[in-house]
Amino acid sequence: MIKNKIIKTDKLLILVSGILFAAITLATVVKDNVPNWKQYQSEFQEIAIEMVGLEKSANIPTGIQQIWVEDLDRVDRCITCHQGIFWSGFESAPQPYSTHPNLEIFDNHPSGKYGCTICHGGQGYAVDKISAHGFTKHWEEPLLAGDVAADYNISEKNALIEINCNTCHRYERETKGMPFINLAKDLIQEKACWGCHIINGEGGAIGPDLTDVGEKHAEGFDWSSFSSFKSVLNWHILHFDEPQSVVPETVMPKMGLQTRERQALSMLMMSWRDENLPLKYIPGFKQEEELRPEEFAKREELLSGDGAFFIKKGCFGCHSIQAFGIKSPTEKGPDLTFAIDDVRVRFNQTLQEFIFDPSQSGTMSIIFSSKVILTDQEKLDLIDILTKANLEHKKNQQGTN
Ligand code: HEC
Ligand code: HEC
Ligand code: HEC
Ligand code: HEC
Ligand code: HEC
Repeated sequence: MIKNKIIKTDKLLILVSGILFAAITLATVVKDNVPNWKQYQSEFQEIAIEMVGLEKSANIPTGIQQIWVEDLDRVDRCITCHQGIFWSGFESAPQPYSTHPNLEIFDNHPSGKYGCTICHGGQGYAVDKISAHGFTKHWEEPLLAGDVAADYNISEKNALIEINCNTCHRYERETKGMPFINLAKDLIQEKACWGCHIINGEGGAIGPDLTDVGEKHAEGFDWSSFSSFKSVLNWHILHFDEPQSVVPETVMPKMGLQTRERQALSMLMMSWRDENLPLKYIPGFKQEEELRPEEFAKREELLSGDGAFFIKKGCFGCHSIQAFGIKSPTEKGPDLTFAIDDVRVRFNQTLQEFIFDPSQSGTMSIIFSSKVILTDQEKLDLIDILTKANLEHKKNQQGTN
């Protein structure tokens, strides 16, 4: 937690100074005239009534709305004002009411698991526009949208979002929807930057290791020969243009890069951060173990057949049920194919009595009282399934005899 906070604070200087100070000044001037979220919500109601009618718009939630993403430690309240974001049909409504462009992006990044700020930046918790969009003094992650892009003369106003996309997608060679980053990844190969720099553990050592260069804070850079507006992104852009103009004694060559190429490479550098994300947020990492096709088929069969109950409840951990083709890895308990007869011999109980009162078996009384609590209906189902298992077995035997 604390470590995370510190890393975030270091990012303060990602884009800062010029832009932020201008924004803050503006902010203090206009603050009192900016409508609050309640006004945005009532205006959205009005627009919605016009567009979808009174009945449907009655379902629009009111009050502060939020997406809590526990895994990413974020609470994003953007949808308090951006109420139309998941509603198709509001494409041409003005901001903050319009439909999210490219709604398919939520197929791969469901909003409940990603929220908004992981891609957009901004201050998720805030519910006034200036703080939410991150243009407040102590907030280090401004909204990577039109205002910031304009400061770098980038005409695609949402391009800088790609910095955030690539903190997760960095190990992919190419990703749809990331034209700047893809261009930069081409350039890394074309210019063989790895000849002088270690990147992800490999490369030459003439220049600094770039693996986590996006973590490097502003104090770490040399600003002494820097005359343009001071931000780390801008440092990279000018350094790629003319390394010697920024670091006079450097051996990094001037590579004759176009403006767009310099912007792209600089964005790639900013994206090489160590966010400490849970592994499931890293593309290509699958949480399921790899299975061979025949193993997968077997698992599917077990999960859908008569024996599914024993797989889903974990009984097969200790019990085989040969009538259903289930083999326990441990066989700590007896094969349940025979339970209906066995319990009479072993505990002098009917199966029904045993399932409803397993107190004579130390192991099963613990399991049924604390590990696997079955409802009465499930107990009755279990008795049916075990009766069926035994019948199945007897049928098979007759078949082979
Ligand atoms: C996986 C990354 C991702 C997530 C998560 C995400 N967005 Fe976006 N969003 C984008 C991209 C990329 C664009 C630009 C798309 C384009 O220009 O075609 C965008 C565009 C937008 C726009 C329109 C900006 C404009 O130029 O007018 C708004 C508003 C917006 N997003 C709000 C949200 C909100 C609110 C959430 C949370 C519910 C959210 N987004 C979640 C990636 C994301
Ligand atoms: C208090 C209301 C409010 C909240 C909260 C809010 N926004 Fe906005 N947002 C607006 C308004 C209003 C606009 C229209 C442009 C403007 O006025 O700046 C807007 C515009 C945008 C745009 C388009 C910017 C552009 O350059 O065209 C994006 C992207 C966006 N918001 C994302 C977010 C995200 C992400 C969050 C949460 C961190 C958020 N907003 C929270 C009110 C809000
Ligand atoms: C917090 C991490 C994270 C962020 C931020 C993120 N993605 Fe993803 N993205 C993923 C994961 C995880 C998958 C699922 C990949 C898989 O199934 O293996 C994915 C899938 C995708 C896919 C489809 C499969 C693939 O890997 O090509 C595309 C395209 C994609 N993301 C583009 C984007 C774009 C564009 C952005 C920024 C607007 C973005 N992503 C932001 C984690 C992220
Ligand atoms: C001939 C060797 C050489 C090549 C080729 C080279 N660099 Fe460098 N690079 C250096 C040296 C030396 C430094 C340290 C001095 C400086 O900052 O210029 C450096 C510094 C950097 C920095 C600043 C890192 C920091 O921590 O301050 C970045 C970013 C960078 N290089 C990226 C690249 C990229 C991307 C490429 C390929 C497009 C590249 N370099 C090609 C030698 C090289
Ligand atoms: C940790 C191992 C373990 C697990 C898990 C387990 N059992 Fe058992 N079970 C046993 C043992 C051991 C016995 C033998 C009785 C004894 O020694 O107390 C037994 C006995 C039984 C019996 C009596 C069988 C006979 O032939 O006498 C039934 C019925 C039974 N278990 C059902 C289940 C069901 C249903 C589940 C899943 C909800 C389950 N068990 C999970 C260990 C386990």
